[in-house]
Amino acid sequence: MEIRAAERLGHLPVYLFDRLDADKAAVQARGVDVISLGQGDPDEGTPPDIIAELARTAIEPANHHYPSFKGMPEYLQAIADFYRDNFGVALEPGPEILSLIGSKSGVGRLPLALVNPGEVILCPDPCYPAYIPGMILADARIQYMPLLEKNQFLPDLTQIPSKVARRAKLMLLNYPNNPTAAVATQDFLKDVVQFARKYEIIVAYDAPYNMMVFDDEKPLSFLQIPGAKEIGVEFHSMSKLFNMTGWRCAWVAGNRHVIDALSRLISNVDMGIFKPIQFAAMKALKNGTVFIQKMNRLYQERRDAVVNGLKELGWRVLPSRGTFFVWLPVPAKDKESIPFALELLQKTGVLITPGRGFGEHGEGYLRIALTVNVERLRDAVRRIKEAGYIYNPSQSD
Ligand SMILES: Cc1ncc(COP(=O)(O)O)c(C=O)c1O
Repeated sequence: MEIRAAERLGHLPVYLFDRLDADKAAVQARGVDVISLGQGDPDEGTPPDIIAELARTAIEPANHHYPSFKGMPEYLQAIADFYRDNFGVALEPGPEILSLIGSKSGVGRLPLALVNPGEVILCPDPCYPAYIPGMILADARIQYMPLLEKNQFLPDLTQIPSKVARRAKLMLLNYPNNPTAAVATQDFLKDVVQFARKYEIIVAYDAPYNMMVFDDEKPLSFLQIPGAKEIGVEFHSMSKLFNMTGWRCAWVAGNRHVIDALSRLISNVDMGIFKPIQFAAMKALKNGTVFIQKMNRLYQERRDAVVNGLKELGWRVLPSRGTFFVWLPVPAKDKESIPFALELLQKTGVLITPGRGFGEHGEGYLRIALTVNVERLRDAVRRIKEAGYIYNPSQSD
């Protein structure tokens, strides 16, 4: 018998990192020590006290049962306290916070819970690629909002035709932004709330990096903007906060009607987070400030090493004020991002993500993930220099 997958799978994009992994494996097979600045997965481990809490609570048989998909009340309370302490935002743990097995799972499924076939979703371009499948599976009409350098990679809301805005059900936003590393201003977010109210659009604000900001930048939550809770929700996660990407522990907070719709979907298709992971997350959220500051200093040092190193080679590098990414124009004028990144990988063993993989408006850019140590980052810059990727600042871009 021939097994044929459903046709809808044919509509899904190829996941960007699968292709990069294949290219990386081919170069590694030649014996090259690849420096991977591709995927945004923290290299430092989860802090030992969080692991100890997991181990302590994992011994208890009472914690081995099916967990509620909603999240333990104590876990939800720890999230509410985190929002109160960091952003001055008041949230009611039950109706206004829902646990998720990763913000990817929540933000990816939201269109299925909210959007009818043919309704419009406003989505940034470039964006985190995992937004796309959920919108396609919901048969939504995707209207991209270009993130342009001249607008600090914030969408220009005035460029969205009112006809489109009136048909839009949902707007996805993500700051600090993957892949552009841009941060949002309070003024921009106020405009978003006003726009969403005017056109009755739900805002899904994806904020897994919102504590990861540098220089004089302050962490910002969408929910601290007046009126945000009336129109939207914020997705957040333990993944990047405490180097817990493999643990699958996250949440969505904000508008209770949006959360109710998502929880009706999730209760049918998912389980909750393993209870010992929730206990460990509670501990992290309660005592994590010092660790978060330490990681921010580390990423800032890495960012400076990359930015300064590449600038010395004549590359134009954009000032990254948040996330652990650096976003930069392809330095060779005559090359698009994919051929440039593939050639760089072949010649230097340094893997950088081509911006095109994040959308049409990512073309012309590259993304570097700061998820290797500073010595290895300097080694990457040295290899790039030795391979002759040196430009006149006026030529690059
Ligand atoms: C913008 C953005 N949202 C969501 C996620 C997924 O995070 P989680 O591990 O919570 O699923 C990522 C991970 O890279 C991301 O960059």
